[in-house]
Amino acid sequence: MEFKRNILITGGAGFIGSHVVRLFVNKYPEYRIVNLDKLTYAGNLANLKDIENAPNYVFVRADICDFDTVCRIFSEYGIDGVIHLAAESHVDRSIKDPFTFARTNVLGTLSLLQAARNSWNGDWNGKLFYHISTDEVYGALKADGGFFTEETKYDPHSPYSASKASSDHFVRSFHDTYGMPTIVTNCSNNYGPYQFPEKLIPLFINNIRHGKPLPVYGTGENVRDWLYVEDHARAIDLIFHKGKVAETYNIGGFNEWRNIDLIHVIIKTADRLLGNPEGTSEHLIKFVTDRAGHDLRYAIDSRKLKSELGWEPSLQFEEGIEKTIRWYLDNQPWMDNITSGEYEKYYDEMYNNR
Ligand code: NAD
Ligand code: DAU
Repeated sequence: MEFKRNILITGGAGFIGSHVVRLFVNKYPEYRIVNLDKLTYAGNLANLKDIENAPNYVFVRADICDFDTVCRIFSEYGIDGVIHLAAESHVDRSIKDPFTFARTNVLGTLSLLQAARNSWNGDWNGKLFYHISTDEVYGALKADGGFFTEETKYDPHSPYSASKASSDHFVRSFHDTYGMPTIVTNCSNNYGPYQFPEKLIPLFINNIRHGKPLPVYGTGENVRDWLYVEDHARAIDLIFHKGKVAETYNIGGFNEWRNIDLIHVIIKTADRLLGNPEGTSEHLIKFVTDRAGHDLRYAIDSRKLKSELGWEPSLQFEEGIEKTIRWYLDNQPWMDNITSGEYEKYYDEMYNNR
């Protein structure tokens, strides 16, 4: 079958990537979507069960750092567009093991860029390398200190954000040096179904369900700007098709929450959905040692994306968080499969090369 486009999505078995793959596979039957994912601890093919047999979907288990394999994928599938999400994504892990972050996020991105450059060989017509990045590259804002815009200077503090900042620079350098059509977007904290339960929201929902402590780092005063993951996927779709080459777009929903206030909302909603009297799980809150280098506040100014491309978040936070908590409570086998480690055994048996 001839496809109109052949798009490589990296990290498609992860949290955001699975929503992007699902959206593209369902919305664009005329495109072939090649999902390249190493299936690290964060990759889970159960996130894509509903589309795994779609005729326009291909899964390839590979490491983005494996340059020869990435080159082979470009030529085998005639890749003309890349949406690059594969990364090590958890700040706490980056503090313990920065090398893995430099390897995947920096060298892996470079390996993809170089493979795209070799494959496209100066014919940039109809090609795009779209890199998904984070607001954490901009550093930290004061409690009352404005917003990150596309002009904010990079000032990363964690090994994770330093590695993402470096990858952003490499992507832009391939545009400036070789003329490759590239776009970079920097998004705020995502929440929604299929997020790995090391991140605040799914971790806390699962701990409430099991009556386990809720570890609040420091005083809980840190502020994050939360966006429903499907709204991020919609923005990625819009920018992939309508974004201007060499531009940067910030993505966020103007939805700031102090961690401790968000945690109270999660507790209240989860208790209600679990049929517990209000306040039942409040005693689970446990203030613990702060994250090293913990950025105080992130807040994205996404007015450029709204004014130039007309994107806006579709969900109000109250609706999104309730939908999310309900999803985790309704999909307990998904969560239990992860927390028991069963999902990894499944892949070991399936691929035997993990
Ligand atoms: P995730 O950890 O849930 O998923 C990452 C995916 O990448 C996994 O499927 C994993 O198996 C795969 N992967 C990791 N190393 C790989 C390698 N070497 N080769 C191939 N695949 C590999 O991450 P996420 O939260 O979905 O984030 C996706 C992207 O979006 C990342 O680039 C992240 O920096 C960025 N981002 C995330 C957020 C957020 O709130 N989660 C916000 C802004 C930007
Ligand atoms: O801002 C975008 C970033 O958001 C993405 O680039 C990252 O990939 C993603 O992981 C996320 O980073 P954060 O560090 O903000 O997310 P996390 O869920 O780890 O933490 C959210 C906030 O909650 C943060 O201030 C730390 C705090 N926290 C987190 C955990 C896991 C706690 O207080 N306790 C916890 O147990």
